[in-house]
Amino acid sequence: MSYIWLQGTREGIPAPIFFSKKRASCGFASSLARLFAADLPTRFAIVIAPCYSPCMTRIVAVANQKGGVGKTTTAINLAASIASRGYRVLLVDFDPQGNASSGVGWPRDRVEKSVYDALTGDVTLAEVVRPTDIATLFVVPATTDLVGAEIELISAERRERVLADALAPIAGDYEYVVIDCPPSLGLLTLNALVAADGVLVPMQAEYFALEGLSALTSTIEKIRAAYNPHLTIDGVLFTMFDGRLSVANQVRCEVAHFFGDKVFRETVPRNVRLSEAPSHGKPCLLYDLRCPGTRSYLAIADEFVDRMTLDPGGDTAPKGQRSA
Ligand SMILES: Nc1ncnc2c1ncn2[C@@H]1O[C@H](COP(=O)(O)OP(=O)(O)OP(=O)(O)O)[C@@H](O)[C@H]1O
Ligand SMILES: [Mg+2]
Repeated sequence: MSYIWLQGTREGIPAPIFFSKKRASCGFASSLARLFAADLPTRFAIVIAPCYSPCMTRIVAVANQKGGVGKTTTAINLAASIASRGYRVLLVDFDPQGNASSGVGWPRDRVEKSVYDALTGDVTLAEVVRPTDIATLFVVPATTDLVGAEIELISAERRERVLADALAPIAGDYEYVVIDCPPSLGLLTLNALVAADGVLVPMQAEYFALEGLSALTSTIEKIRAAYNPHLTIDGVLFTMFDGRLSVANQVRCEVAHFFGDKVFRETVPRNVRLSEAPSHGKPCLLYDLRCPGTRSYLAIADEFVDRMTLDPGGDTAPKGQRSA
């Protein structure tokens, strides 16, 4: 199955397209593409993406135990940017701070049932899913109740698989599930990494970040060995990046030396619009489509989706597509 859609490219900005995805078989898609290519004005590009069938889901945890590095900003804007390309995306807020929820229009006072209620078995996760202003983006909200889960889960059976078990019945309804993790390597993050296919690590280009990165990679190794052998690093993303600073470039080179092409080519610049958007309950692309922050997250989403779709046999492919 392939997807074909038309993408406006005003002034070089890939405009998000909502609802415009049409499904077609591969053969049909390519003959349609040739037909359109002949007739369409040049300001339109035709994008044909080989995609997973709807049952193929990539679950990505956005994790870094260091606080304030841009995990939530990345989870919200990556999820929204992928959704704007027509994919069905579920954003799971797994941080008691609930910032990812309020950032897509679900602040504490609007949330009746949260991910905590699904973890404790009061409701199913499907009952907690809420819509957002982007038709293909859905959210599982979190509240401060989630702090309790960290303590209550300690004595639970399969305590590290509670989120994986809750997600299992609904993950297949989405093409991407993006989990926003809290700033710790505790039981919540462990649950997220056990449920995930891959980890996306946002980091700031600072010297101390390198130390945090090695703690995270050794945690990932341990989780791979004990619980989730398929867990891969989907990417390392530099946030609040200022390429004019030599320390930023040095740190980037060092990380690239270690992680190779796992490091996203695109970086996220420091951009005030990205920090303003959550106070309006919107992903940045609905707040300011043209700002540098929106542009970079759209480019990162494209880079991410390309990695996932163009490498179907590699270690970045979803569980169902990995070669044995
Ligand atoms: N690229 C950016 N430009 C400007 N401000 C940013 C950018 N990315 C994040 N911020 C701001 O930095 C702060 C921390 O970002 P964010 O909440 O995404 O980090 P976090 O890693 O999720 O934090 P925590 O560890 O507390 O969960 C927020 O105020 C956010 O608005
Ligand atoms: Mg956060």
